[in-house]
Amino acid sequence: MSKREEPIKSKPLSGSFSDLARITGIEEEELRRWAKGGLLERVEASSPPIYRFENYERFLPNKKHTQADQPRVVSFFSGCGGLDLGFENAGFELGYANDFFLDACLSYSENIGPIDPRPIQKVKVQDTGVANVLLAGFPCQPFSNAGARRGVSDPRGTLFWETLKFVDELNPEIVVFENVRGLLSMKNPDGNHLIDAIELEVQRRGYEVGHRLINTSDYGVPQNRYRVIIVGIRTDLGKGPFNFDSIARELPESVGDIISKPVSPNDPNNEHWQLSPQAVDLIKYIPEGGSWKSVPYDQLPERLKRIRDNMKRYHSPNFFRRFGRNEIMGTITAAATPENSGILHPIEARRYTVREVARFQTFPETYSFKGKSIAAKYKQIGNAVPPEFARRLAVALREHVGF
Ligand SMILES: C[S@@+](CC[C@H](N)C(=O)[O-])C[C@H]1O[C@@H](n2cnc3c(N)ncnc32)[C@H](O)[C@@H]1O
Repeated sequence: MSKREEPIKSKPLSGSFSDLARITGIEEEELRRWAKGGLLERVEASSPPIYRFENYERFLPNKKHTQADQPRVVSFFSGCGGLDLGFENAGFELGYANDFFLDACLSYSENIGPIDPRPIQKVKVQDTGVANVLLAGFPCQPFSNAGARRGVSDPRGTLFWETLKFVDELNPEIVVFENVRGLLSMKNPDGNHLIDAIELEVQRRGYEVGHRLINTSDYGVPQNRYRVIIVGIRTDLGKGPFNFDSIARELPESVGDIISKPVSPNDPNNEHWQLSPQAVDLIKYIPEGGSWKSVPYDQLPERLKRIRDNMKRYHSPNFFRRFGRNEIMGTITAAATPENSGILHPIEARRYTVREVARFQTFPETYSFKGKSIAAKYKQIGNAVPPEFARRLAVALREHVGF
C-alpha cells in the first residue's frame, strides 16, 4: 500500500443547516441527506436545530490540489473502495473519489481517505483535480429514448454520459469502466448493442478502446465473479490498445481455505445478518455443496413450489446455493439473500459474516465496513470490484503506459 498523508484534524463545524451550507458551499438539501446518513450529528434540538459536522475534511471536496508524485486517480462510483484500493496498492495516488451511497462513503473515508458524497451530477471538474486515470463503475441503464428518436445510440442523460463529461474535461491517459456481464447483451432502443455505443463514444474522444469479460477467479480472487472491464488508452501516447492478457493470473483458494483462517475476536465485522425463520427451516435440507433442489417438495413455500412445478419456464434456477468447502465461491451479490446468492455457510446454519464475504472479495482483514444497517455492509461489499483483481489490472496498466 502506498503511503498516505493523514489529513490534519480540524475543529468540528457546527451550526444550523443554513450556517453549514454557507460555510461548506454544500446545498442545504444535500446536508440534510448527509445528516440522515449519519455524517452530521444533531447536537441541539433548538429551532433551527444545530448540527455538528465532525470529520468534514473527509467529505468536502478539496479545492487545493497538490501535484501528485505518482499517477493520480480520479474515481467515480467508488463505493466502499474495492477498485480504488487495488489501484492504490499498485502505487497510484487516489486524488478524488465520489459516491452518493452514504454508508459506503463512511467505509471509504475510514479505510482509504476523503470521498465526496454528492451525486455525480453535482460534481464540477474543479472539485476533482487532474486525472491520469479515471475510474468509473457506472450503473447501467440503456441509453435514453432520445436515441430512438434520433435513430442512433444516444447516451445523453445517463450516468455514463455524466462520466464522459469528465473524460472530456480531464483528458486522462487511462479510463477504466467496470460493469456487470449483462452489459454485453444490453441493447439501446435503436437495437444497437450498448457496449458498442460506449466504446464509440470513448474512441471519439481520442482513445484506443477494448473490453474483456473476465472471471475474477482467474486472477487469484477466491470467487467466480464475471465482470466486463472496458479500458481506454489515450491514442496520442502511441502505446496501442491495452492487452488484457497482460494481467497476471493465479489460481484461487477454495471456500474451505477462506473460512478456515482465524478471525480476530475483536473484529467488529465478525457479525452476520440473521436468516429468517423460513430460511432456517429450508436450509436444514440443503447439504454442503447443494441447493434448494434437495428440499422436499412439501417443505417448500408456495412461491417456490410454483417454480419447482415449471422448472423449464423459470430456466432451472439454482436458489439457496450452498457452496462446499472444496469449491470456488460463487458471486457475492449486493442483496445477500440466501435465495439468490451463495451467502450460506457450508456447515453452519447461517449467512456468512461480513468479514467472510469481504475475504471472498479480497479486502484486507483490517478493512472495516461501516453503515447504519448490517444489510448496508453486505451491499457495499457485494458491489465492489475485488481489490486483488483491481491491483493486478492496475499493475498491467502501469506497465502498458509506462507510468
Ligand atoms: C458497482 S458500485 C461501485 C463499486 C466500487 N467501484 C468498488 O469497487 O467498490 C456502483 C456505485 O455507484 C453509485 N452511484 C449510483 N448512482 C450514482 C450517482 N448518481 N452519483 C454517485 N454515485 C452513484 C452507487 O452508490 C454504487 O456504490
